[in-house]
Amino acid sequence: MKVAVVTGANKGIGFAIVKGLCKKFNGTVYLTSRDPARGAEAIAALKKLGLNPEYHQLDISDRSSITKFRDCIKEKHGGLDIIINNAAVSGAGMRTTYEDSKRVIDIDFRSLLIIEELIYPLVRDNGRILNISSDCGHLSNIRNRYWIDKLSSKDLTLEDINEFVNWFLSGVKDGTFRKDDLADGGTIAAYRVAKVAVSALTILQQKKLDSRNISVNSMHPGLVKTDMTQGKGVFTADEAAETPVYLVLDAPQTVKGSYIWFDKKILN
Ligand SMILES: NC(=O)c1ccc[n+]([C@@H]2O[C@H](COP(=O)([O-])OP(=O)(O)OC[C@H]3O[C@@H](n4cnc5c(N)ncnc54)[C@H](OP(=O)(O)O)[C@@H]3O)[C@@H](O)[C@H]2O)c1
Repeated sequence: MKVAVVTGANKGIGFAIVKGLCKKFNGTVYLTSRDPARGAEAIAALKKLGLNPEYHQLDISDRSSITKFRDCIKEKHGGLDIIINNAAVSGAGMRTTYEDSKRVIDIDFRSLLIIEELIYPLVRDNGRILNISSDCGHLSNIRNRYWIDKLSSKDLTLEDINEFVNWFLSGVKDGTFRKDDLADGGTIAAYRVAKVAVSALTILQQKKLDSRNISVNSMHPGLVKTDMTQGKGVFTADEAAETPVYLVLDAPQTVKGSYIWFDKKILN
């Protein structure tokens, strides 16, 4: 039996992706959440619709939680076929503080490094990994020439990406961060930096997993009415879940290491 996992799935786009997978995927779907009570509510809501996802607690910023989840998947299923890295936070509005920026970078970007280390060895050959990024994850969000060149280099390394997020965090800490190094006057700065780092990491992870024909892509789900946007948006979460579900189930396996728009177009 195949296995699909969605992170941060107790609400919003992640919840809608689980719903979509339960309807279309021929296998076991894991709804995961950092908070078990919120997870239980989400499971109950899906059961009312006649859908039957499995549940496991998973806080993507907590190594021990990821380890416990890894052990459960290994023991029960031996591996997994699809993982959608959806969980994220956008940060505390307009004020860019060091503590909040670090929290956003840890959850939205660094968590993916722990997931890569602990979970990706369990992803079976021909599997699919999808990172839910954002329009904030496109390189055009960066206005600093040094980092544009570095992050778009074909010789990009993980050290470069880590240096990029550390450059941002130390700039915020010592007050040297310049808002015009980012688009839109540096609003939601940490979120932009984290999501650009996710897009860059997607390319590196694809290179590493290519020999097992595993695809790793990132995507922008559109502006979606969820708690993250305080209900503002163009799409409902169910509408926004259509492209991620398509990408992990129906898109050609040749779509690899790409950044994909909500309308399924592949961008550079
Ligand atoms: N909505 C949009 O317009 C939009 C646009 C571009 C990109 N995105 C991206 O789409 C994805 C989903 O966003 P959304 O709009 O659905 O946001 P949301 O409604 O705020 O949901 C975010 C989910 O992530 C979970 N989460 C946060 N930190 C976590 C952690 N440490 N471990 C596990 N789960 C955690 C939240 O759990 P709790 O309930 O416990 O907080 C929640 O389930 C995110 O990656 C976001 O960046 C959204």
